[in-house]
Amino acid sequence: MNLTVIGTGYVGLVSGSCFSEMGNTVTCIDIDSKKIENLKKGIIPIYEPGLEAMVNRNVQNKTLHFSTSLKDNLHNVDIAFIAVGTPMGEDGSADLKYVLQVAKQIGENMSTPIIIVDKSTVPVGTADKVRAAISKELAKRDKKIEFHVVSNPEFLKEGDAINDFMKPDRVVVGSDDKGATEKMRALYAPFFRSSTDRLITMDVRSAEMTKYVANAMLATKISFMNEIANICELVDADVNKVRIGIGSDSRIGYSFIYPGSGYGGSCFPKDVKALKKTAAENGYTANLIKAVEDVNDKQKLVIAKKVISRFGEDLTGKTFAIWGLSFKPETDDMREAPSLYVINELTKRGGKIQAYDPKAREEAEHFYLKGNENVAYFNSKYETLQNADAMILLTEWKEFRSPDFEELKKQLKQPIIFDGRNQYNHSTLIKNNFEYFQIGKK
Ligand code: UDX
Repeated sequence: MNLTVIGTGYVGLVSGSCFSEMGNTVTCIDIDSKKIENLKKGIIPIYEPGLEAMVNRNVQNKTLHFSTSLKDNLHNVDIAFIAVGTPMGEDGSADLKYVLQVAKQIGENMSTPIIIVDKSTVPVGTADKVRAAISKELAKRDKKIEFHVVSNPEFLKEGDAINDFMKPDRVVVGSDDKGATEKMRALYAPFFRSSTDRLITMDVRSAEMTKYVANAMLATKISFMNEIANICELVDADVNKVRIGIGSDSRIGYSFIYPGSGYGGSCFPKDVKALKKTAAENGYTANLIKAVEDVNDKQKLVIAKKVISRFGEDLTGKTFAIWGLSFKPETDDMREAPSLYVINELTKRGGKIQAYDPKAREEAEHFYLKGNENVAYFNSKYETLQNADAMILLTEWKEFRSPDFEELKKQLKQPIIFDGRNQYNHSTLIKNNFEYFQIGKK
């Protein structure tokens, strides 16, 4: 098929390259001309395992193209995917200005029948707005061209996005038109070749809702476990054991019940807020969803609180080694990362930070923590330890899993570890004379 993907952010770029990998001819569009120039040269704006190689392979095969012109890439195109950003507006709702701008341009320029797919995470009812925006422009041009608007939300996880896209658990297609549904089925069929067909069809609004509900449910599991972790500490229970105890119940399951420093990233915080807002707009107070958010906001500071109760309110003269800055491993994404909250809290109190992250240094240093002069960046995890009062682990990158603990002892002023991701064995570290602080265990 001939596909156009509008927006070369996370979702657009991964979707575009995976569709081209399956032999479709794909043009990815972005208004950012520098980004498009770079992509043509194989320079990828984000770190995502496997993406660079896939983009380059398909550019070479001439199945993947990049352009700044939407106008030139709407003719004889089977499907156009809208994958532009939906940033959080000031009131917590998803801001649709980019989505609707794109819809308007599609209406202004389309010349042949086309299926328009909302791939960005958009609130219920957005497909209707997109349809109306396109129809309005067609009416202005006095044109009657057939088009359908389909919702096809993306469930990819950063750091594992290629895998998620190429071997999806499910693909959700919300469509009010049989022909459009069948075209989507044909597009996704190769992704299910060796397994059962996991394409789930439904009406457009239910598909739009599905994305928010999936993310809110996962966020709920995490906040629930973080709350349980905090209670475990108070009653001298070990949340690591409780987690295994409950996960073994197949109705509960082991995934997404890891307590930690709170969820971050581009999706959960934004989508939980937007769902709460949608409920409120419809006259419903979403108490549980609000609680999920409140627990998470507090959880981001739990490790900072442990540091303060160990070292005191005034951290002047204290230095902390931070291992991990990104919101989770295998990404350089710093959006809503717990590290931002912890670092701001500690430096506000006079503490100095020596930080290391395998991929997120650039993002942190030049953007998210820019101007915070109390943060110094290092090129290896061991370098951060020199003369530090404690090590604080905030992202569970694989290279932090089994460090040389003797080296930690040698470099740190005192052997103290604050572990915001419960990566180490409590009794082993205590036996080795570390002061070891975890989440959910006294
Ligand atoms: C998420 C969804 O998983 C994905 O389907 C959707 O399309 C986008 O949002 P992502 O934000 O990439 O993906 O990350 P994910 O792996 O889901 O982790 C989200 C956050 O939850 C991270 O901050 C992570 O550290 C945290 N988390 C996850 C926990 O604290 N505990 C867990 O058990 C699992």
